[in-house]
Amino acid sequence: MKFNYLKFEKKGRIGILTFTRPDALNALNESVFKELSNFLDADFTKSIRVLILTGEGKAFVAGADIKAFQTYSSQNAYEFAELGKLLFDRISNLEIPVIAAINGFALGGGLELALCCDIRIASERTKLGLPEVNLGLIPGFNGTQRLSRQIGAGNAMYMMMQGEGISAQEAYQLGVVQKLALPEEVLPTAIQLAERIASKSPRSLSLIKEMVGKGMEMSLKDAGEMESRAFGNLFKEDQKERIEGVSAFLEKRQPNWE
Ligand code: CAA
Repeated sequence: MKFNYLKFEKKGRIGILTFTRPDALNALNESVFKELSNFLDADFTKSIRVLILTGEGKAFVAGADIKAFQTYSSQNAYEFAELGKLLFDRISNLEIPVIAAINGFALGGGLELALCCDIRIASERTKLGLPEVNLGLIPGFNGTQRLSRQIGAGNAMYMMMQGEGISAQEAYQLGVVQKLALPEEVLPTAIQLAERIASKSPRSLSLIKEMVGKGMEMSLKDAGEMESRAFGNLFKEDQKERIEGVSAFLEKRQPNWE
């Protein structure tokens, strides 16, 4: 598949999707979203175990394209926000784990993109934030919701209201990112983590995603019941992975998940 604003490459079991619009710090506009939609339509998850998102140049993604906003009507803005949410939900709902390798600025829609990934690794020297308050806007790709759920309402309010973007160190302390790396080490660190994750049970990984994702929207009691059912289902006779994982442990060998 040929893209102008995206690049996809495979490294064994790992897929790396790079946003490549460096002259605009990888800002998201309708053309980028069209390509992202086409990418997600292709059945790429069958051939990889973990997806990494990253950006080319000095930004991960610096947000929605501010220049495009000049011509937007209210309806255009609503539709753009809905399109972004739809695509980010599709990423969030992928069965395979997704890691954001935040190589540079992750601002506005860029941080919202990172927040729909499962794990975030950031450069020690970058800035992250939801600075829409400086533009007289608000986050439109679910940032108000995902950030609050990720780090709590108080911390999310702090980030959104002061609007300046925070250092990666502060983002790490607040739980926005899970790991810090030197700028040149962000992608290698993400690949290393992805390799480790790719060696685990794909079924367990997709269930962990499902339980955490769905559970966030449910009461603890209902989510606990959902988890018990999923745990029970793993013991059904047709779940070959259970047999493989348990057998491998008992036979003191590495499991083969293929
Ligand atoms: N949209 C469009 N163009 C952008 C952009 C964006 N979000 N961010 C950067 N650019 C462009 C700049 O306009 C500039 O283009 P020109 O060379 O044509 O002038 C180019 O990228 C390089 O940027 P800078 O010269 O500004 O680079 P810098 O290193 O001095 O600053 C920065 C980097 C701090 C990230 C700064 O570019 C910046 O503040 N960008 C805007 C970040 C932002 O506000 N993001 C939120 C957007 S709104 C949003 O995302 C809403 C939503 O949730 C839906």
